[in-house]
Amino acid sequence: MSRVYNFSAGPAVLPEEVLKEAAAEMLDYNGTGMSVMEMSHRSKAFEEIITTAEQDLRDLMNIPDNYKVLFLQGGASQQFAMIPMNLMKNRVADYIITGQWAKKAAKEAEKYGKVNRVASSEDKTFSYIPDCSDLPISEDADYVYICENNTIYGTKFKELPNTKGKTLVADVSSCFLSEPVDVTKYGLIYGGVQKNIGPAGVVIVIIREDLITEDVLPGTPTMLTYKTHADAKSLYNTPPAYGIYICGKVFKWLKDMGGLSVMKERNEKKAKVLYDFLDQSKLFKGTVEKKDRSLMNVPFVTGDADLDAKFVKEAKEAGLENLKGHRTVGGMRASIYNAMPYEGVVALVDFMKKFEEENL
Ligand SMILES: Cc1ncc(COP(=O)(O)O)c(C=O)c1O
Repeated sequence: MSRVYNFSAGPAVLPEEVLKEAAAEMLDYNGTGMSVMEMSHRSKAFEEIITTAEQDLRDLMNIPDNYKVLFLQGGASQQFAMIPMNLMKNRVADYIITGQWAKKAAKEAEKYGKVNRVASSEDKTFSYIPDCSDLPISEDADYVYICENNTIYGTKFKELPNTKGKTLVADVSSCFLSEPVDVTKYGLIYGGVQKNIGPAGVVIVIIREDLITEDVLPGTPTMLTYKTHADAKSLYNTPPAYGIYICGKVFKWLKDMGGLSVMKERNEKKAKVLYDFLDQSKLFKGTVEKKDRSLMNVPFVTGDADLDAKFVKEAKEAGLENLKGHRTVGGMRASIYNAMPYEGVVALVDFMKKFEEENL
């Protein structure tokens, strides 16, 4: 068996220890004589899996008691609709547009109410985070929406926007658990787990209790009402049970590693290797304003599409996979999530140095 260094933006690399444990438990989970995949979601064994996963996530993120943790399905994209359906009491929301995902979320929300795009970085291909210290927040906005880490463009909010007292809603799909967060600053935090936490199919929503009400927009399906899932502790219907089990293992792994402060240090150390190289390279160039650089997704280009393609091909041959940039922007992108080891980033930079020597 040989494993590659996988720089995919998602689904993405998972900790090898977690995969090995899951493999060892595949046929007989904890003496039950069955795989978690085969198990009733109402069984005692699964109840323990989901309860422990939730508690470990609460410990990692220091989630206050007045927030619920929901394990849902439908991908992060389903939240683009679920958020307005549940939170748009006045039918007004403010969106900060820092990339394709925020753009899509805003467009979806427009089906349900008035969307004010209060800031955008589209003028420079989303290569920076706009100043959000004094935005024209709408008087009657039900919430202010951000995509906290922009997977495609490689930017991250280093400071949260000043929402002027309005509820902050954040898509953290690509920076989930990569560093400590102050949950109390948000009304709702959500993310698809397939980047930093687990296999595709699970979305985690962390939502303040006062935002969970029956007063949702008319026609909101039962399955798209937060209250349904909060009341049923994420077991209203069959949840993505195996995915939740793997998420739980990743939470344990993160705790064993020392928690989110340690992950932040590790992630900063990893990202620095790559950014430092990019900053002095004569061939490769980072595409993002330095102050807004993501620790998780690092886009870069040579400026020559053919050379970019050659790089991606040769990198793959060298065991460095999935370095092609998003189909809408081209170039390269290295996603270096929690589970990407330091050695993987060093191997990438070594390869880039060699490629530069051969191609300059
Ligand atoms: C920041 C962000 N939000 C939302 C999505 C959409 O996620 P999903 O495919 O789970 O709907 C992605 C996906 O890649 C993403 O990076």
